[in-house]
Amino acid sequence: MDKLEQIPVVVAGVTGKTGGAVGRAIQAAADLELLGALSLRHAGMSLGMLWGDPTISIQLTASLDQIDVPYAVLVDFTEPESALDRLFQAIDRHWDIVVGTTGFSARARQMLAARVEDTGVGAAVIANFSLGAWVAERLAREASRYFEAVEVVEGHHAGKKDRPSGTAKVMAGMLGEALKRPADTIPVHSLRLPGMVAHQAVIFGAQGQMLSIRHDVHDRTAYVDGVLAAVRQVHRLGGRVVSDLGQILDPAASHPEHQS
Ligand SMILES: NC(=O)c1ccc[n+]([C@@H]2O[C@H](COP(=O)([O-])OP(=O)(O)OC[C@H]3O[C@@H](n4cnc5c(N)ncnc54)[C@H](OP(=O)(O)O)[C@@H]3O)[C@@H](O)[C@H]2O)c1
Repeated sequence: MDKLEQIPVVVAGVTGKTGGAVGRAIQAAADLELLGALSLRHAGMSLGMLWGDPTISIQLTASLDQIDVPYAVLVDFTEPESALDRLFQAIDRHWDIVVGTTGFSARARQMLAARVEDTGVGAAVIANFSLGAWVAERLAREASRYFEAVEVVEGHHAGKKDRPSGTAKVMAGMLGEALKRPADTIPVHSLRLPGMVAHQAVIFGAQGQMLSIRHDVHDRTAYVDGVLAAVRQVHRLGGRVVSDLGQILDPAASHPEHQS
């Protein structure tokens, strides 16, 4: 593919578990060009050396200041404190953003949405980029038409910083909305254990029966297709924050209340 037709991409968190899987897939995709990579602890190192691929000449940098290109899609899988400033910096350059980082406060999310609206950039801020999580949410929405009692159990690796997970918060919000109850009345249980990657069960109970909708991620490549689809489409989302993966994967099937 002609270089001019490629979408330029900068990945923040490329040395991490998820950003690493995403970064490698971007590097391998013919229509995308990985032209920058951010890491705090590994800044100054060569990404090619880190990945054992001497054909990659990208130098890891600690911030966007060292990346002097007119436009890119910023993909962020880091942590919420540093991410917010970085996202504002990208938006102010009129870059589009694809954000997997979770744990933002409600205020941070509002500020981000306002800045996206003001500048008209495209923004996909999605708590879970895996196909299975999105389908599980749709199934749970359907089940909540028939069951009233429900609890969410999520489990992640011991190093996960936020609790409950962003995915569980979105699920509780959806269930609250579907059951016409405040989201905080949906119990969410969080496990943080070695041996886990990312798991979630939505368990409905009724007289003499239970229904479980369960999704397990065993490998971070589960997120890659969703992220790459978002990178390819984010520019057309200009001026609003999309938080429903369905708006990317299957706009016709996604729910209107998730289109903000
Ligand atoms: N939306 C989704 O589908 C999805 C899926 C999985 C994970 N996540 C979220 O993605 C985030 C990362 O998760 P993970 O498990 O991949 O974490 P991780 O393995 O700990 O990786 C964190 C990454 O962030 C980088 N980083 C940390 N602080 C930074 C800073 N100030 N500036 C630049 N880079 C910085 C780290 O780089 P150095 O250590 O090299 O400095 C590392 O590359 C979490 O918020 C997690 O909840 C979302």
